[in-house]
Amino acid sequence: MKILAIESSCDDTAVAVTEGRRVLSSCIASQVPEHVLYGGVVPEIASRRHIEAIGSLYSRALEQAGCALDDIDAVAVTYAPGLIGSLLVGVGFAKGLCFAKGIPLIPVHHLRSHIAANYITAPELEPPFLALVISGGHSHLIDVRDYTSYEVIGRTRDDAAGECFDKTARAMGMPYPGGIHLDKLAESGDNTKYKLPCPHVEGCELDFSFSGLKTAVINLIHNAEQKGEQLDFASLAACVRKTVTDILIDRVVKAFERLPYDKLVIAGGVSANSEIRRRMAELMREKGKKLYLPELTYCGDNAAMVGVQGYYEYLAGNTAGNDLNAFATMDIATLM
Ligand code: KG4
Ligand code: ZN
Repeated sequence: MKILAIESSCDDTAVAVTEGRRVLSSCIASQVPEHVLYGGVVPEIASRRHIEAIGSLYSRALEQAGCALDDIDAVAVTYAPGLIGSLLVGVGFAKGLCFAKGIPLIPVHHLRSHIAANYITAPELEPPFLALVISGGHSHLIDVRDYTSYEVIGRTRDDAAGECFDKTARAMGMPYPGGIHLDKLAESGDNTKYKLPCPHVEGCELDFSFSGLKTAVINLIHNAEQKGEQLDFASLAACVRKTVTDILIDRVVKAFERLPYDKLVIAGGVSANSEIRRRMAELMREKGKKLYLPELTYCGDNAAMVGVQGYYEYLAGNTAGNDLNAFATMDIATLM
């Protein structure tokens, strides 16, 4: 079964063709060069760029997969959560294709698809497992019981891990999105130089809170600026990265005290972080559990992961009619 998949939830327009877990093509148009001017995503601009990019990406994805629209059996599309104007571009395009060809329309939740990126990288991976989804907008610990059955067991109370990286990186003068730049700079820093807060959520040991850490770093930078002091940004970056990793490790260890699983799956843009990858691998080795990480190309937003999750949604009967809408927020456990 060949699926044409579309992703437009934030600032990447992406179209792919997949068959089961196999990726036949995966095309992405990034909008970063434009949003970098504003230090973050401008939703109005993002929607307009999706509209401009989606038609040619669609043609390229079909061409690279060596097929035509007639060979496509269904269309999968990210419909929630995300920027509403951005999501609507992908959903509208997908509906047009399904209406024209009379083929099924498969709505896909963005976080479900991030988890599915691991099915591409590890063909043997099957649920159940514990998933840590860390992206620019989300930080969740999820009990993945089956391909379409989830329970959120921990979540951020405020900012996502990616937001914490991006905003602290911006305060240090790095371009948007700062996570990757902070990661690189941290390699040459001393991760013991600055003392940063490592917040817990009272009574909810699996929840995260990153806003206190973000604010502490921004205040440290502003105070130093006011006093005319020069901070060692490589070491500050290393301390931020270590603190975020410490927090994630603490929650993963506690989650495994509750769940009987022997597999940890990490997903979302922040799963590209080199310290998180390194230290989670050490932790899982110590615990005798298996770690799954997406290939770097599938950590960030892409449509291949949407196609693969779309396949499992289709098998579960989760298709939609031409009245499908997009939603800015939606829990991962919600059934269509
Ligand atoms: O999943 P994603 O592409 O978009 C969302 O669904 O949010 O994640 C983007 C996030 C951004 O915050 C970006 O800075 C972060 O992933 N990111 C990283 C790294 N690469 C991307 N954060 C830390 N270290 C990295 N190497
Ligand atoms: Zn994402």
